[in-house]
Amino acid sequence: MKKNIILSFYLLLLANLTSAQQFSLPSLRFEYHAYEPYIDAQTMEIHLTKHHQTYITNLNKAVSGTKLEKLSLNQLLLNAGMRSDAVRNNAGGHYNHTLFWQILAPENKQGEISNELRSAMDLEFKHLDSLKKKLEVAATKHFGSGWAWLIVTPDKKLKVTSTSNQDNPIMDVAKERGIPILGIDVWEHAYYLKYQNKRGDYLNSVWQLIDWKMVSSNYLAALNDTLLQEIADDTWPEIKEFHKVMAQTFHSVEKNDFLPIQARSGEMLAKAILLSESVIPMSYQKPEIKTALIKLVKECNELDKLVKKNAKKIFIKTKMFQAHDTFHLIQGLCKD
Ligand SMILES: [Fe+2]
Repeated sequence: MKKNIILSFYLLLLANLTSAQQFSLPSLRFEYHAYEPYIDAQTMEIHLTKHHQTYITNLNKAVSGTKLEKLSLNQLLLNAGMRSDAVRNNAGGHYNHTLFWQILAPENKQGEISNELRSAMDLEFKHLDSLKKKLEVAATKHFGSGWAWLIVTPDKKLKVTSTSNQDNPIMDVAKERGIPILGIDVWEHAYYLKYQNKRGDYLNSVWQLIDWKMVSSNYLAALNDTLLQEIADDTWPEIKEFHKVMAQTFHSVEKNDFLPIQARSGEMLAKAILLSESVIPMSYQKPEIKTALIKLVKECNELDKLVKKNAKKIFIKTKMFQAHDTFHLIQGLCKD
């Protein structure tokens, strides 16, 4: 019975994190007061219904009516560096808080750590106390608002790290990347009512609420999550370089502003050639991708020629749209 409840909760969490949809507020696993005395009921309620809800409302607003609407939360996070600040901050805010609620439980409702996670922790941290210390250092030395994390890295090891604002280690902007299995919110809104500026006291308290059974489930799920492979494969700098030029020129052409592409058509062609000659990560190695790369170079070349000979704007626009469509066959993403 207990197993079924945990499984249903995990499936719900997974659905909320991965499906393409209007995002919605998850329920807490326990009543607001159940986390006392470590976190007070008022903080839990405001944190969930005001702060977390605001990230969700703003995320839905930011993706509504754009191509991003069809992307899962993980896909929004993976390429956060290419998104608007609204998408990056609010997608991060939604993911981070959902994980935070999931791994917290009152002391008498917490489950045991699994043998698998304990072995992995012993290997990396020797002892649970040294993991706690590392997390505390990551959280207390972090200047300003942010998160402390325990992550599974692409080479399937455990690591402690931190990020600023609502960034997280899934994002391409993070220095240390991987799938978080435990996250601690170190924004003041997480503790100010009870602890004021005493972040250290809050960290000691929140440590008492970690449900190691949930963290263990997250660990196993992360090891088998295809997202880990996507993060590992997210090492195609040439596609990011091309995307930047495309994003900074295409959207202007859409609005009939041709100045950016007139200035950068040669650069875009050069980046397309670099992209087509680069080492393609395993996850992209499909015949359609190779064909699309050849097509992209051809179209960027034609676009550059049209720009250089000062062709009619409608021809430039048509070619730009062709190159943009071809690029999205490869990338499947669009800056909103
Ligand atoms: Fe928060």
